[in-house]
Amino acid sequence: MADIPLTRTEYPEARQEEIRAAVRKAEGITTVETNSRLATPDDAGVFHEFLSDPDISGPIYTLPRPLTLESVRAFIEDHLEQRERGEGLLFLNVDAAGAIGGYVDIIVWPQWAAGELGGAVGKQRQGQRHGIEGARLGFDWMFDVLGLELLCATAALDNFRTAKLLDGLGFKRKGEIVSVRPDGTERASLVWEVTRPEWDGFHGR
Ligand SMILES: CC(C)(COP(=O)(O)OP(=O)(O)OC[C@H]1O[C@@H](n2cnc3c(N)ncnc32)[C@H](O)[C@@H]1OP(=O)(O)O)[C@@H](O)C(=O)NCCC(=O)NCCS
Repeated sequence: MADIPLTRTEYPEARQEEIRAAVRKAEGITTVETNSRLATPDDAGVFHEFLSDPDISGPIYTLPRPLTLESVRAFIEDHLEQRERGEGLLFLNVDAAGAIGGYVDIIVWPQWAAGELGGAVGKQRQGQRHGIEGARLGFDWMFDVLGLELLCATAALDNFRTAKLLDGLGFKRKGEIVSVRPDGTERASLVWEVTRPEWDGFHGR
């Protein structure tokens, strides 16, 4: 898979264990107005339906390919195993009517106290800055609740919305890498990173 994060500072074993414990305890991430909860295998059908819109899943290289009910169920199960190892989380953001309004996929590298957040908001919520505000809250949560020191993010070269989102939230562009999709196909990605002091300074925390 892709060679991220680009910045790698090794953290002591005790600190790594604290991060793994925080991941294992996590039940949901801070959101704007939806309820966030862990995805379970029972969600495979609705989550597959949500992702089947190419405007939602097209730009995201980490999703299973081909995108089928079975591959989405396996994706959810794999994330529950990642959570047990303290290395990954998959949250669904569900609205009052029970419909999926978005999802968040988190990768954690406890050895470097680093993490990546990816995801999407539903089509009817795109273009209204919901994704930007949700991402800001999510990044706050990764620093505050998971105790990370570095956040990393990637986007396809033509994903202007995500680029604006990350630039606007104070992430720094670090270069370009080749991301590898689960089916082995490749995609050029821009890489952004932000450290905790940079984040806190930018957002006046
Ligand atoms: C990427 C995403 C989270 C952004 O959230 P959003 O709430 O829809 O964001 P918006 O479109 O309201 O705003 C993003 C920025 O892009 C700008 N923008 C929107 N469409 C644009 C376009 N076609 N070209 C250039 N800029 C564009 C907006 O003006 C805004 O910029 P600003 O902050 O300077 O005002 C959301 O669109 C989404 O889920 N997309 C599908 C999945 C995806 O790409 N995920 C990210 C990869 S992990």
